Amino acid sequence: MRHIKELVPLLKKGNIVAFCGAGLSSESSIPTFRGKGGLWEKYNPEVFATLGGLLSLFIFSPKKVRDFIVEFYDILLSGKPNYAHYGLAELERKNLLLGVITQNIDDFHSQAGSTEVAELHGNAYKFWCLKCKIVVKKNREEFEKFIENLKSKQSRKEIIREILNFMGKCPGCRKRMRPYIIFFGQSLPQDELKKGYSYLDKAQTLLCIGTSGVVYPAAYLPYYSRRRGAKIININPESTPLDDIADWVIRETAVNFFKIILPILNETFFRHRRIRFRRKV
Ligand code: APR
Repeated sequence: MRHIKELVPLLKKGNIVAFCGAGLSSESSIPTFRGKGGLWEKYNPEVFATLGGLLSLFIFSPKKVRDFIVEFYDILLSGKPNYAHYGLAELERKNLLLGVITQNIDDFHSQAGSTEVAELHGNAYKFWCLKCKIVVKKNREEFEKFIENLKSKQSRKEIIREILNFMGKCPGCRKRMRPYIIFFGQSLPQDELKKGYSYLDKAQTLLCIGTSGVVYPAAYLPYYSRRRGAKIININPESTPLDDIADWVIRETAVNFFKIILPILNETFFRHRRIRFRRKV
């Protein structure tokens, strides 16, 4: 393991892509899925993270679905982007970062100002029509109101009606919209995957941040990037399978990593601009 500062020359070359997982948002008070206290400790992912499991629960025990939705969105809505999300957005503004490929559905990259984002597992604020592939995004306030209303619904009929009304209908074909969340066993959204590969095809450096790297097909992407010759930097306080292909293993949290790296990059960035400015005058 080398010192983080030694990475600066590589990062300054640009053409960076970030591949992110739940660990990035753990410092935004969103627990990881597989860590201690993670969602999958309390809710069986075979039921709550599969479309079939969730649909049959919705029909036979809507109260359990209501409790899950309420707990999930209470956590999500109380969090906000952290220093690392803002750090990635800043790297994009400096033209050092080509894009973020994220497995997270919390929308924090967009909220932090990133514009080049491939959302492999969807987005918890979006709904889509499975037929037309039209995607509609609702805002935080709309979700807050929905969750407050849902909490007060007790009967099976009320719960189902509240959820279906909120999801709404496709503006194209009027079919019922579905949550834009990719469940286990579903294929990844092709447009997002294509976008992700287009970033990787230009990447010289891949920052893997806060992912266990065990959920496929998303977990193939770092291997693809490695084969194309990118340097792999794995930022994770714990060991993961991605350590095996990493050129650099950084045993730090995502926020600590950016707190070390950003001030140095800012310093060199502004020095470079000052020199260019002086040359011009
Ligand atoms: N900074 C960096 N990494 C962290 C931090 C932190 N502050 N805290 C935890 N981690 C690391 C953990 O060590 C772990 O390796 O983040 C990783 C989180 O792993 P998972 O919970 O498995 O999350 P992820 O890799 O995103 O899972 C992929 O699985 O359940 C599905 O669809 C869900 O998108 C998710 C996918």
